[in-house]
Amino acid sequence: MIIDSHAHVNDSALDELRSQILQDTMDMPMKFCEVGFDCDSSLRAVDLAENNSGVYAIIGTHPQEAEKLTDEHLETYRRLSTHPKVVALGEIGLDYHYPDPPRESQLVAFERQLQLATTLDLPVVLHVRESYKDTLDLLSQYASDIKRGILLHCYSGSVESVKLFDKLGCYYALGGAITFKNAKKEEVIKAISPDRLLLETDCPYMTPVPFRGTPNMPKYVSLVAQKVAEVLGEDVESVIERTSANTKRLFYKIVD
Ligand code: NI
Repeated sequence: MIIDSHAHVNDSALDELRSQILQDTMDMPMKFCEVGFDCDSSLRAVDLAENNSGVYAIIGTHPQEAEKLTDEHLETYRRLSTHPKVVALGEIGLDYHYPDPPRESQLVAFERQLQLATTLDLPVVLHVRESYKDTLDLLSQYASDIKRGILLHCYSGSVESVKLFDKLGCYYALGGAITFKNAKKEEVIKAISPDRLLLETDCPYMTPVPFRGTPNMPKYVSLVAQKVAEVLGEDVESVIERTSANTKRLFYKIVD
């Protein structure tokens, strides 16, 4: 059983592939977590999970949508958090790659959702892009009150940052980017503790080699597993088994 811990199958780029993806998820030993980026897409993620076996939902407001976060959205996330197929709050965090939305509003939305996270029985999934220092500063204030754990999705930081996030007990998800040519990523894969590593696709983005240029899909998570196995000198089956066990430990509502 392989688990894609982070997918956006409801993205319009997958409109024509969606029914096949859902069929594959039933037919293959595979599960995926559908991630919302705002309140509407979080509700759609829950809907997808409710109607399809092997699909779970992650709910929250992405930093790019920070300015849209309202009290009503936070209340909706609180209400949905007890749903049996809602496995985490996310993806929340800070993305400084583009000038908008302004950092101040991203920090407000991130902190409000971290505060919510301390009151929920859910782990948190973080989106961190070019914002490691601010993320660590804010996260450090809340990490000890987030009882179910923290996952850094699409981890693209340094080995040094792994050491800092390790102090907060974080998990790390790696995706298609590790199949792109870049020796530095191999050091990062080796620096992550084996029991803290998860796999993901972030589909339809970040398509792994050799399918670059086509939409990414949850089943391509096996290519990420292959790359991890190659770097660690392990067989792919044991990587799949271990990362799935890690995913189920963190996303504890995935029980079957
Ligand atoms: Ni994502």
